[in-house]
Amino acid sequence: MVSELFTLIIWLAAIVFVVVEAVLVYVLIRYRRKPGDGMPIQTHGNSKLEIILTIAPAVVLAAVSVPTVGAIFKTYEVPTGSNVVNVEVIGHQFWWEYKYTDLGGFSTANDMHVPAGKTVVLHITSVDVIHSHWIPKLGVKRDAIPGRVNTIWFKADEPGTYYGQCAEFCGAQHANMKLRTITQSQADFDAWVKTMQAPAATPSADLARRGQQLLTEGTCAACHAIDGSKAAGKIGPNLTHFATRSSMAGALLDLNEQNVRLWLTDPQAVKPGNLMVIPKQTPQDLDALVAYLMSLK
Ligand code: CUA
Repeated sequence: MVSELFTLIIWLAAIVFVVVEAVLVYVLIRYRRKPGDGMPIQTHGNSKLEIILTIAPAVVLAAVSVPTVGAIFKTYEVPTGSNVVNVEVIGHQFWWEYKYTDLGGFSTANDMHVPAGKTVVLHITSVDVIHSHWIPKLGVKRDAIPGRVNTIWFKADEPGTYYGQCAEFCGAQHANMKLRTITQSQADFDAWVKTMQAPAATPSADLARRGQQLLTEGTCAACHAIDGSKAAGKIGPNLTHFATRSSMAGALLDLNEQNVRLWLTDPQAVKPGNLMVIPKQTPQDLDALVAYLMSLK
């Protein structure tokens, strides 16, 4: 529907452009001042021309607005029932939280997983300022407004990764408030849900265990949660299955060991103005934190 609207508007705009430019070029050549020409005839309005210039744009705007308004209402007719996947989308400065209340209430960040071929309903809100959740290729864009839940729905035909972006200026890192929508086969999605519902992995290596202690008992726990541990912060992303994600830092970085280390060393250097604060770590503690985070599969 959104794509058809886009095509319609592009064609109408192209026709208007060609007609207006053709008339302009014609007039420039046909009525060019020639040597010896006197003062041109002075006119004071032309009712016929003015009526045409009023009606023509009105017709074009009506041709655009009738299908647009119809489509807007359609996107608000939210499908319900057991065959629908509901995802709560919560905007934060500067990352997206995805909560799956129907599937046990787990929450993840940056990467939204949904099954292909199924209707997905997004329930979009924000905890701070106005953001806009936009997945261009899937045609869905809706504002995330604090204190309000906006809905929009879509169905992705094929498994794949679709990139998205916050589309409402929300602060210093607005441009780096990205997202990835990962559409999977039903079996792959079910497997992912099962992983997400499971408790956090308990690390076996000593280094990672030291990292677990630092994270769950240190200051990190004020903002981040590891489900089933003392860490239950709600300001930053839930880290219970951190290492299963493809991206981090508001989908600015691919998730890998090198980037986790870079981020923990100085998050403000990577993404100035974000809300992550971490005191300078000793090299040993940094190794331990990285090892623990990368073990959270
Ligand atoms: Cu969030 Cu722009």
